[in-house]
Amino acid sequence: MFWLTLIPVLLHLTRGNSPCLGRSLGISPCRTQFFKRESLTLYCGADERIMTNSKSVSCSQKSHECYITLAGEHHSGSYWCDSNSGERGEAVNITVTGGSVILESPVHPVPEGSPARLRCLTSHKSSKQLVVVSRINQSCTFSRDGRLIGVGLTGEMSFAAVNRSHEGLYKCTFSGVESPGSWLAVRGELCLVSTW
Ligand SMILES: *[C@@H]1O[C@H](CO)[C@@H](O)[C@H](O)[C@H]1NC(C)=O
Ligand SMILES: *[C@@H]1O[C@H](CO)[C@@H](O)[C@H](O)[C@H]1NC(C)=O
Ligand SMILES: *[C@@H]1O[C@H](CO)[C@@H](O)[C@H](O)[C@H]1NC(C)=O
Repeated sequence: MFWLTLIPVLLHLTRGNSPCLGRSLGISPCRTQFFKRESLTLYCGADERIMTNSKSVSCSQKSHECYITLAGEHHSGSYWCDSNSGERGEAVNITVTGGSVILESPVHPVPEGSPARLRCLTSHKSSKQLVVVSRINQSCTFSRDGRLIGVGLTGEMSFAAVNRSHEGLYKCTFSGVESPGSWLAVRGELCLVSTW
């Protein structure tokens, strides 16, 4: 995973002045909303375990990498990595929906001043009853905390540089169908982490 390989590099480069990346769960595809019957993979570091509060977990608790091959609404919940020493990583909330529209938004907190992109996605069933996810290259609306913030003519909306005022619960709407909501978190600039 990108973060897991990046953390030692950053530690090496920055020494005492580490960014507060925390320990984070990796997800592929890289989003927090999924359609029913999609497949996804979750990753933690080699010395960690994947933890969740979702009602039913179809991946092995022994593993630091697990697969959900036919996602269902019961897989919705918080997922995080626990280290062997009991340190709890930052949680990621995953939503699996039976609806036809989802929002793709940053999985992890976005560093202040960095760009962020929101994208509205839709799905259709392939011949084998599996879900095919596609981008919507048409007008979609985006809302934050229930307020309309913009229209994306090609199904997406970008922020050039986020700050704390961009934090909130985002949703997109395509053709009258609203996606579930996902929280966009903004992380402050570099800071010291005492445990490092
Ligand atoms: C979106 O649609 C426009 C007009 O139909 C087309 O020119 C463009 O290439 C499309 N973009 C993508 C990413 O599919
Ligand atoms: C945050 O970003 C928005 C949009 O770019 C801007 O209007 C606002 O002034 C910024 N706020 C701060 C505190 O920088
Ligand atoms: C994740 O879900 C939990 C439980 O519903 C909630 O308390 C928490 O605020 C959510 N966190 C984010 C970042 O959405």
